[in-house]
Amino acid sequence: MKVIQTASALKKELLEVKSCGKSVGFVPTMGALHNGHLSLVENAKQHTDVVVVSIFVNPTQFNDSKDFDKYPRTPEVDIKLLEEAGAHYLFLPLSKGEVYPEGHVPTKIDLNPIDKVLEGEHRPGHFEGVVEVVDLLFKLVEPEKAFFGLKDFQQFLVIKRLAKELHPSLRIVGVETIREKNMLARSSRNELLTDEQRALAAKLYETMSWVVEHFAQFSVLELEHKAQEKLDVK
Ligand code: PAF
Repeated sequence: MKVIQTASALKKELLEVKSCGKSVGFVPTMGALHNGHLSLVENAKQHTDVVVVSIFVNPTQFNDSKDFDKYPRTPEVDIKLLEEAGAHYLFLPLSKGEVYPEGHVPTKIDLNPIDKVLEGEHRPGHFEGVVEVVDLLFKLVEPEKAFFGLKDFQQFLVIKRLAKELHPSLRIVGVETIREKNMLARSSRNELLTDEQRALAAKLYETMSWVVEHFAQFSVLELEHKAQEKLDVK
């Protein structure tokens, strides 16, 4: 696997790859890689000839600078994992400027209503930042297919909208969520949880699954109460 740190070197390398008629699959990440990311790489390997992974903790999608600072960063381990997984190129930008060119004007697309609910409601500006960085990375890599986890389903819909608006020939592939034994979705942010918090997060999944299974049997209010009982929150 080649590790590339500048946008110009990446462009040059991929121009050669494409001139040989090879298809490029792209897996953008923020690092702290786990099995979920590796399954994206595996999917990309199955569907395209050459797999490019990027690792860039994108500041514009964090509405809280403390959250940005404490986001897990494990580049040495990530490189090893990607080598073992058989990725061909890793774009690990030297600086923010390798992703955000000077004078760059933020990409704006209409995300309504996807960005107004759920995570969008609680993290103002988050999805705008995701659109901005993913658009820049798409322009840089110009892949045939790009691979995203369905774990972040709202982000997946945002990326689909971005591709539809600005990259119509690019195919966005959604990849199933990889879970731990206790069914908690694999996520880089889980590294920040204590054992107790992890157990509670797994309980959330268990409770939501229970609610789905019993949806026909109880009223919404009853389901709400039972879920609160299971989670021990009222
Ligand atoms: O899902 C992520 O890791 C990030 O939001 C992404 C898509 C790499 C953009 O920074």
